[in-house]
Amino acid sequence: MRLESARARRRALRLATLLVGFAPAAGLVVAFLHDGLGANPVEKITHETGEWALRFLFLSLSVTPVRRLTGWRMLLQERRTLGLFAFFYASLHLAIYVGLDLGFAWSFLGEDILERPYITVGFATFLVLLALAATSTRAAARRLGRRWKTLHRAVYLAGIGAVVHFLWLVKADTREPLVYAGVLALLLGSRAFWALQRRSRSGNR
Ligand code: HEM
Repeated sequence: MRLESARARRRALRLATLLVGFAPAAGLVVAFLHDGLGANPVEKITHETGEWALRFLFLSLSVTPVRRLTGWRMLLQERRTLGLFAFFYASLHLAIYVGLDLGFAWSFLGEDILERPYITVGFATFLVLLALAATSTRAAARRLGRRWKTLHRAVYLAGIGAVVHFLWLVKADTREPLVYAGVLALLLGSRAFWALQRRSRSGNR
């Protein structure tokens, strides 16, 4: 009986994550169909997909600290899905930029990567997310063994890259990217704090 209710809760949490993950994309499709994307739809979709990539990346980074603070272990099962949603929105973001902004002129993307620092950082961040998504399966974790954990620590690098990309592209008002930078500092700080605590505990033994 207890097992059944745990399974039902697990399923409900999975469903909630999927709904939350697809909601922004559905919102954009609905806005597009109802001419609700404003005067510059391409710019609007580029910005929205970029921000959702960043938000889902931060949500996946928040899973471990929230689990530690609340003891809610079930959350751990959602970390991978949230990370995959970050990759999904980052891929849309890149596809829209290359397809609608640059008209599929890949050489322009190459030039942008070389000449515009915020695009260089955005692209590097995308590559990190791609590597994490490609190795997110159980089979990949088994194959990579201990290296898997080391590789997946790069998720923090992706967080830093995404915030630097955002900070670098805004021209005047840096308030929003600075809020993200503050949240990232908290996430990294909590990780460092728990790592130090673990080390001092094992040193005391
Ligand atoms: C794949 C390479 C990428 C390219 C070519 C790219 C390109 C762009 C462009 C052209 C903009 C709009 C700039 C402007 O309006 O002046 C933008 C904004 C943004 N991008 Fe990217 N990006 C990339 C990767 C990423 C990744 C991986 C993330 C996050 C994980 C991200 C997050 C953002 C955010 C948060 C914004 C600002 C949104 C806003 O203003 O509300 N980008 N990006």
